[in-house]
Amino acid sequence: MKRQIKNNVYWIGKIDWELETFHGADYSIDNGSSQNAYLIQEEKTVLIDTVWKPHSTEFIDNLKSEVDLEKIDFIVMNHGEIDHSGSLPALMEKIPDTPIYCTANAVKSLTGQFHHPEWNYKVVKTGDSIDIGNGKKLVFVEMRMLHWPDSMATYLTGDNILFSNDAFGQHFAVEELFNDKADTCLLWTEAQKYYANILNPFSPLVKKKVEEIQALNLPIDIIAPSHGAIWRDNPLQIIEKYYEWSQDYQENQITIAYDTMWEGTMQLAHKIGSEITRLSPDTKVKIFNISKADKNDIMTEVFKSKAIALGSPTVGQNILSSVGGWLDFLKELKFTKKKAAVFGCYGWSGEGTKLLRGRLEEAGFEVVEPEIRCNWNPTEEVFQKAETLAEALCH
Ligand code: FEO
Repeated sequence: MKRQIKNNVYWIGKIDWELETFHGADYSIDNGSSQNAYLIQEEKTVLIDTVWKPHSTEFIDNLKSEVDLEKIDFIVMNHGEIDHSGSLPALMEKIPDTPIYCTANAVKSLTGQFHHPEWNYKVVKTGDSIDIGNGKKLVFVEMRMLHWPDSMATYLTGDNILFSNDAFGQHFAVEELFNDKADTCLLWTEAQKYYANILNPFSPLVKKKVEEIQALNLPIDIIAPSHGAIWRDNPLQIIEKYYEWSQDYQENQITIAYDTMWEGTMQLAHKIGSEITRLSPDTKVKIFNISKADKNDIMTEVFKSKAIALGSPTVGQNILSSVGGWLDFLKELKFTKKKAAVFGCYGWSGEGTKLLRGRLEEAGFEVVEPEIRCNWNPTEEVFQKAETLAEALCH
């Protein structure tokens, strides 16, 4: 059923408490999620976004119970990704001529996925607007690369609501919908995880976009994203946070990530951790086994860190495949201004630390000396190197 957001604006999405992963299995979901669609019923009736295909029957039934589908004057698609567009084909079967307002790139993504070039697309760009009656307008703002080339936001004048789509969202189920009703600690954990794992690669564009939005000086009473809590209590707080996160964000934290075969590399990881704590008690230390911990959670901790230490034993003249895959993801996230150190045990050839160093440099990290390259299991002499490695990361 629809639920009021403000005046004639309603939420009509899907809260999915059972969702466990997103983007295939690339993003873990620990606290549910939602796909937020919105219905505006002014002189014009407007649908903003839809929900993912598995929920399309439920979504369309809900929509039908609230409004005669033929009365929907137009649909705004802020983004073509299937979690927001997945119900569009079923809906367009019922109202095939309804105009769809979206960016030029969204025509490409929607057509590429659903193969309906005949849909009645109305291409918009930043600053374009539509009158929806009662003195209100929808104004479109392209949000290119936040996080797809087709992304845009839609601003409703009069009610001062920014429908921001993925930006400012979280994979987080909030039954009561609003940020002031949500568990604040979980809300910020999920908002930061979302930023670190999805938006961080585009941080320079996030910074520019936030500056552009701030320069418009729009009154914003509500930010209504397409996932998670709707920001109605101090909505600007999430914009301010994005601005902070977009600029080489770091806290006084060092994250140690490793995988191990016979525990030698694990022992090094823990020794480095205890040395950091001894040398710099104010520095937060987090230690993760890459094979056992959730990769998105580790990346969120990397996002918060000023430095990381990464360890792998050498195996088959290589690093462990778990660490190799993790490094692919690390590179994709384009972290900036962070230091790294490398460590690992080996029995015979010992290429591991050199490979880790190269991969971290490719991922944009400043790799410091010393490294710990340990033949067989660590001795006291090897453990002592952990102190100099810790010192190099702390300062
Ligand atoms: Fe980029 Fe929520 O989809």
